[in-house]
Amino acid sequence: MNKLWMILCILGINAYATVEDEVYITIGSDAVLSSQKSLNAPKALKQSSGITVMKVKKSEIESLSHLMHEKFNRCGGFIVHDSKAEAMEVLALEGIRQKAKNLPFADFTIDQEQKATKLVSMVKEFPIRDMILELSKFQNRYYKSQSGVDSQAYIKTKWEKLAAARNDVRVEYYKHSRWPQPSLIMTIEGTSKKDEIVIIGGHADSIAGWWGRERARAPGADDNASGIATITEVIRVMMESGYQPSRTIQFMAYAAEEVGLLGSKAIANEYKDQGKNVVSVVQFDMTNHKGTEDLDIVFMTDYTNQAQNKFMGALIDKYVEGVSWGYSKCGYGCSDHASWHNAGFPASMPFESTMRDSNGHIHTKRDTIDVNGSGGTADHAEKFARLGVAYLVEMGK
Ligand code: BES
Ligand code: ZN
Repeated sequence: MNKLWMILCILGINAYATVEDEVYITIGSDAVLSSQKSLNAPKALKQSSGITVMKVKKSEIESLSHLMHEKFNRCGGFIVHDSKAEAMEVLALEGIRQKAKNLPFADFTIDQEQKATKLVSMVKEFPIRDMILELSKFQNRYYKSQSGVDSQAYIKTKWEKLAAARNDVRVEYYKHSRWPQPSLIMTIEGTSKKDEIVIIGGHADSIAGWWGRERARAPGADDNASGIATITEVIRVMMESGYQPSRTIQFMAYAAEEVGLLGSKAIANEYKDQGKNVVSVVQFDMTNHKGTEDLDIVFMTDYTNQAQNKFMGALIDKYVEGVSWGYSKCGYGCSDHASWHNAGFPASMPFESTMRDSNGHIHTKRDTIDVNGSGGTADHAEKFARLGVAYLVEMGK
């Protein structure tokens, strides 16, 4: 073994150690057992994606370094962190990276031509327009206001009616302890691959103004009655056609997106913690403002999965006739897809325009259907509903 190399390793590591007696490290999970055997039983705190956070005595760092050298032939092979939080953060980010790398892209095939074509042709504009208008009638759908609770009940009843003839479908609130507005989840149980979950979601809340938001007028027609109405039309087609997916499909109307993606964050993190196998997530947030002349559907490239975005573009080419698509970027975690992405699941966000051309009326009382760039109709949102149906037929198989 090269002695100099080893000394440099040890020096490098000690330079990062804190002055406390105990420090937090991240280390390859394959080295945890050996290190526990040869050191004074350091504690493994959390493990994910082949990396473990451990608490070790500062005085043992050097022995650990030797061990890593001799047994694993690694220089260092672990990182010493300033705090527990920092160590945990590495683990979280690494988990995301690893998962993003290992996604089951092989599943993204397009081979359900007959069924998909038939179901896509069932999508209509009017039910979407009607639902946007109905949701816009609530004073607001703010996460803390009574009308934000009532609007969720409205969507729940609507979804339940659509599913009335099915005993493999459930519509349930997902309650949040810190605010009154619940999220809403509709589940179509998969026939043969129940544990694999495909999710289509959008946020149901709306917001406007800075003071007295509980009472402020916030129709949120585009942001995001349009997305919820789009999803509801997808549900209608799935129910009326009697479609039974192999995978489990969940439709979600998230609470409290406008105040920091709170509803979706709670759900996505719970799914992650429970080890649920979410194979794909699509977010519909703002689908009815035709803002970009030569593009209909625009995939946000940040906080999303690249391969899945491509797959969805291919679905448009194949099944959503006459609709053009491209890419844009939010520049930040602008909607609930980011909650899923941050929890390590593949997500996409097909959006109504480029970021630059997006609807300037959102978060005001002027976000109504008549200013959406499709003349008071839901013509633009209809394209997204057709994409949603094609997506579910191909992903649900
Ligand atoms: N629908 C918007 C996000 C959006 C707006 C995307 C314009 C693209 C163009 C969403 O409801 C929203 O308002 N998000 C917040 C961020 C969130 C973390 C509170 C925003 O963009 O300020
Ligand atoms: Zn918004």
